[in-house]
Amino acid sequence: MKDRQPPVIEARHLRKVFGDFTAVDDISFRLHRGECLGLLGPNGAGKTSTIRMVYGFSPMSAGSLRVFGLDVTTRWRSIKARIGVCHQENNLDPDLSVLENLVVFAGYFSIPRKVAKERAEKLLRFMSLDQRQDEKVTNLSGGMMRRLVLARALINEPELLILDEPTTGLDPQSRHQVWEKLDQLRAEGLSILLTTHYMEEASSLCDRLVIIDHGKILVQGKPKELIRQHAGRDVIEVFNPTNKLLRFVESSRLMHDNLPRRLIIYGQENDGIFERLGEHYCAENCIRRMATLEDVFLRLTGRDLRE
Ligand SMILES: Nc1ncnc2c1ncn2[C@@H]1O[C@H](COP(=O)(O)OP(=O)(O)OP(=O)(O)O)[C@@H](O)[C@H]1O
Ligand SMILES: [Mg+2]
Repeated sequence: MKDRQPPVIEARHLRKVFGDFTAVDDISFRLHRGECLGLLGPNGAGKTSTIRMVYGFSPMSAGSLRVFGLDVTTRWRSIKARIGVCHQENNLDPDLSVLENLVVFAGYFSIPRKVAKERAEKLLRFMSLDQRQDEKVTNLSGGMMRRLVLARALINEPELLILDEPTTGLDPQSRHQVWEKLDQLRAEGLSILLTTHYMEEASSLCDRLVIIDHGKILVQGKPKELIRQHAGRDVIEVFNPTNKLLRFVESSRLMHDNLPRRLIIYGQENDGIFERLGEHYCAENCIRRMATLEDVFLRLTGRDLRE
């Protein structure tokens, strides 16, 4: 049966202007129910500015935005009750305990204190923080704080979770733990919009990705499709390539990036190029690997530092 429900988020021609600077420049995307959509882009690309408009923190300069089919400019109160937000910064209350941070936050949604406490305890167990519930949040490690922010975003049992860099600054163990939790939530039907700088996070968690730069969408699509389209299937990296190899790659019109001291060649399916390369040009200074989302990201947004 056809899904008649409106998209969870429908952003059309969104713009955000700060003075004479345009941070978000005509961005349109949709998030469907149960989907995890990732917003990727270098520092300053406009990710936070975009999602702040979605969670009602910052007014749009132009465009239209519907969440659960409701117009954010007029129906904000009803939308707010149904979303959970994890800001880029951990804005926990340092004077309150771990548990109190959740219970007090639940008060903003008019959740009765008893229910709030039960939910908070359950969420702390889910995030493996129950042993620390009476401690001050200032005693927590970075990973624990991030998990607490995530738990807090779930206190109103939202239908949509908006996460701005949920795992930045975490060690691999904590990051993987957060990924597992998010995966579990997604499997339970939660819709998720997230930003991240971790390509592994984007590839494994997100159903679809939007890559933005300088406030504009460069591409959107499924991770695997984006990889196929923009980086092929396999990649060969050649360190200190010879001029002969460079000429061969250019004359064969292979997709490639010629970096200082390194040549990256992107091979398409069944083009047999690696066998040809291997025989004639590749000695021990070559590695062959699978194409990744990081290749796509760097190819589309360049290698220059931002901000
Ligand atoms: N309140 C503001 N006033 C002026 N400029 C702003 C404001 N907020 C953001 N900007 C600018 O808008 C641009 C986009 O910022 P934004 O925070 O959306 O980027 P981002 O993609 O989230 O980057 P990061 O990956 O570093 O978090 C940046 O150039 C930033 O300096
Ligand atoms: Mg940001």
